Amino acid sequence: MIFLKSKDEIQIMRRAGAVVADVLLKLEAHVKPGVTTGDLDRIAEEHIRKSGALPTFVGYQGYPKSLCTSINEEVVHGIPGSRLLKEGDIIGIDCGVTLEGYVADHAITFGVGVISDEYQRLLDLTVKALKAGLDAFVLGNRIGDIGHAVQSVAAECDYGVVRDFVGHGIGRKMHEEPQVPNFGKPGTGPRIKAGMVIAIEPMFNLGTHEVQVLKDGWTVVTKDRKASAHFEHTIAMAESGPVLLTVP
Ligand code: MF3
Ligand code: CO
Repeated sequence: MIFLKSKDEIQIMRRAGAVVADVLLKLEAHVKPGVTTGDLDRIAEEHIRKSGALPTFVGYQGYPKSLCTSINEEVVHGIPGSRLLKEGDIIGIDCGVTLEGYVADHAITFGVGVISDEYQRLLDLTVKALKAGLDAFVLGNRIGDIGHAVQSVAAECDYGVVRDFVGHGIGRKMHEEPQVPNFGKPGTGPRIKAGMVIAIEPMFNLGTHEVQVLKDGWTVVTKDRKASAHFEHTIAMAESGPVLLTVP
């Protein structure tokens, strides 16, 4: 069942989105060689709580931290800890916050210091795919149109598109229906209606689309250990049209 949101609910989610966007903006300034992923998590949690929100990921199916921090071949769900960022890494930072009972979900992959052209292109094209997905979130379109738009960008450059993890509806829960895959056929899937709120989150790999979960039970890595990038926004369909929620 897809829960459509009222104007008031979308307004609360917009404020949750502003909090999580502020968190990632703040973290961007700390993404430097020598910083640990645990440092980033502490900064994020403090900012979230000071904003009157809660870190949605803490306790989610037993997850221990406020952020997911996924470096290089890590795709998503890396657990913050003592690992040091180093020059040339890319780090996906994913964060969810709950404000007044509503969740906003947002992720950006940052370069650490100077990164290779190959990594920069991966980031640029994954951002381009997220934009294409957001642009396909149009009244009357279907969810498959979003996946098709995302996948079409990956096809330009021969990247692997992760299929085992997908975007999702979002609201009182972080994961609601519908699923929002990063692949699909135009004109298929649920129709996009006023009140729908979803998170679109392409994960592009330099190599194979195949992924594995490490023994910690969380960290998702590429099967060939080549790098991966992940970007995510939460977007609502208001009566007046699409509203990007995860912006400052
Ligand atoms: N934010 C992720 C998503 O985009 C989920 C994080 S899983 C958690 O769906 F366990 F860390 F919460
Ligand atoms: Co998400």
